Amino acid sequence: MKRIGILTSGGDTPGMNAAIRAAFKEGNNRGYTMMGIYHGYKGLIEGRISQMTCEQVENIMHKGGTVLRTARSMEFMNDEGFKKALDMASAYRLDGLVVIGGDGSFKGAKQLNENGLRTVGVPGTIDNDMGYTEYTIGFDTAVNTLTKEIYNIRDTMRAHDRVGVIEVMGRNCGDIALWAGIAGGADLILVPECPMPWSEAAKKLHEMRLRGKLTCIVTMAEGAGSAKEFCDYVRQNSDVDIKAIVPGYIQRGGNPSAFDRILASRLGQRAVELLAEGKGGMAVGIWRNRIIDVDINDAVNKKDKFDKKLYDMNEVLARF
Ligand code: F6P
Repeated sequence: MKRIGILTSGGDTPGMNAAIRAAFKEGNNRGYTMMGIYHGYKGLIEGRISQMTCEQVENIMHKGGTVLRTARSMEFMNDEGFKKALDMASAYRLDGLVVIGGDGSFKGAKQLNENGLRTVGVPGTIDNDMGYTEYTIGFDTAVNTLTKEIYNIRDTMRAHDRVGVIEVMGRNCGDIALWAGIAGGADLILVPECPMPWSEAAKKLHEMRLRGKLTCIVTMAEGAGSAKEFCDYVRQNSDVDIKAIVPGYIQRGGNPSAFDRILASRLGQRAVELLAEGKGGMAVGIWRNRIIDVDINDAVNKKDKFDKKLYDMNEVLARF
């Protein structure tokens, strides 16, 4: 190994910078030339590549976003774009590549590896939707950000005896809604993994009102539907005063939590260590607080996990 590229791809996530910093430092310490690839696979295709310096990773660990920028590249998905990316990697004489991103980014990493560029995937997505790892970088920060938001929302909902439905990100995964819901004391959590007909959800809110619980907090995963549509439905079918709140990108930006900084540092460091050991086609992750590495094929094929026990627990906590 002489030259290693680093890129971030897909939705940015707090902690990506900490992962970049750790990967850079591990490689730099080994005497490798570390190359920054800007705007993910799009940048690889277009040759937006330059040698990274120590100054570039100074004072970045605590910052949200990604200093390498990111993108979702459609071009990379077709044969021609993919070939351009591969040619560019060889023009820049890359011996290895660290890809920090989610599921889609890992599929690209796997394909590059199959075509001769040793690649290691580092899980970076707020969605926490990758089954082979307990946590992905950024999830903890997103949950913490939302937890603070929920308590602000709760104040004003309570002042008006209202129900607040907070639609959170996560694509098809309900983890953000579940964890932020528990930390925010949600009375109802709507997730795609445990589909609940809206009639039943509305009935639950109505019953809570009859029991004297006038203020309720609902967290709703975007994969379970639209908060606005759900609120319209409840309004049409009951006298519950209900508001939809969509925090949006607030939950994806901001300074990473200490947990995410540490996780990202461990994963970024391990990714380069694997490349140094001559291992490509791998994905790093965390399981029971140990850093693990698995075949990237297994990582992309592993079904996402959902903690049903945690979900059931909240049903009990929200009951009275
Ligand atoms: O995958 C991360 C994520 O933030 C999802 O939770 C969300 O559905 C999506 O990205 C939003 O994508 P975009 O940045 O293209 O709006």
